[in-house]
Amino acid sequence: MNFSKVLPMVGGASKLALARTLGKRLPYSITFILTHRCNFQCAYCDIPAAAGEELSEAEFKRAIDDFADAGMSRASFSGGEVLIREDATRIIAHAKSRGLFTSLNTNGWLVPRHLDALTGNLDMMVLSLDGEAAIHDEVRRKQGSQSRVMEAVALAKQRGIAVATITVLSKPNLHVVEPVLSLAERHGFWAYFQPAYTDCFDHQRGLDPALTHDVLASLAKRLSDAKRSGRPVAASAGFLERLARGPAFGDCASCNAGRYFGTVMPDGTVVPCHLVSKEAVYPNGKHVGFVRAFEQMPHPTRGPGCAISPYQESDLIFQLDVRAITSAVERVVKTPGPVGAAHVR
Ligand SMILES: C[S@@+](CC[C@H](N)C(=O)[O-])C[C@H]1O[C@@H](n2cnc3c(N)ncnc32)[C@H](O)[C@@H]1O
Ligand code: SF4
Repeated sequence: MNFSKVLPMVGGASKLALARTLGKRLPYSITFILTHRCNFQCAYCDIPAAAGEELSEAEFKRAIDDFADAGMSRASFSGGEVLIREDATRIIAHAKSRGLFTSLNTNGWLVPRHLDALTGNLDMMVLSLDGEAAIHDEVRRKQGSQSRVMEAVALAKQRGIAVATITVLSKPNLHVVEPVLSLAERHGFWAYFQPAYTDCFDHQRGLDPALTHDVLASLAKRLSDAKRSGRPVAASAGFLERLARGPAFGDCASCNAGRYFGTVMPDGTVVPCHLVSKEAVYPNGKHVGFVRAFEQMPHPTRGPGCAISPYQESDLIFQLDVRAITSAVERVVKTPGPVGAAHVR
């Protein structure tokens, strides 16, 4: 089994253990939102409307250096659409040159153009996939976008990049769980599912109203059953337990966002996660230093938790939930296939 890809994260574990013992924060895993701009206007997403000031390539690289010196082991890149920045692949390559595990969230449209530059520098590509072609293209408001996602899946796999998808569930595509899992089995990728929030920057505004407690509980049961039968459900059992409790998923006050993982917004502001980014005044790393901003940012004091896949999986990992740690390793080292046919990379 090839565990070399996860070594950067294992390597940082001793620093993490020390920080936990001392009750200190550590920027172990950081999401860099390179831009809020986007080449799409998905029906449920209000991020492009928030586009504004952005750090330069040099400033993002400095942020990466500062966090890496302080113990960062994992750097993920998201947007907006990261790949519309012409310097995006250089920033990702810089993170790899610092020995970090790297991941990228993308809508897939521009992947072919940047594939060579990503190869060798990107460990995991997370593509948005909202169902089969017709419904995906409808909610993502971009004709032909689902076929570009499927093309990106194949290209990334050919280059040895681990692949997962995120399906955002909202009223028009609540029925896509089965078709997405079938695609995942056929094409060999891990499939995350998460509910749509009304406002990407404010979880207090709640979920898409179609996502009632009963809908979330039945979704969680369905995904748990599928996972137990060996289907390529990316979520860990812990995530699915939280999903079943929705819309009160947990408790923001006890979340490890802001303790061991955090998010750098395009302008350099450092926040625990984007869903609480309107709740307080957060420090800007460009002005006070990125590590200092991480250490100083206010931690959420209230809130019902969330069901954003990367945040909840990270929280569970930092709670030392063995099932979340195992799922995270599996997503990187194992290529899923039809039930019983998964193979290790
Ligand atoms: C903001 S996007 C950025 C990356 C890229 N543009 C993409 O679409 O994959 C990251 C993830 O957040 C999801 N997302 C966007 N709006 C959301 C919302 N209102 N609620 C839940 N997830 C959302 C997207 O579908 C995507 O999987
Ligand atoms: S979900 Fe991603 S692709 Fe769609 S508008 Fe938002 S940032 Fe752009």
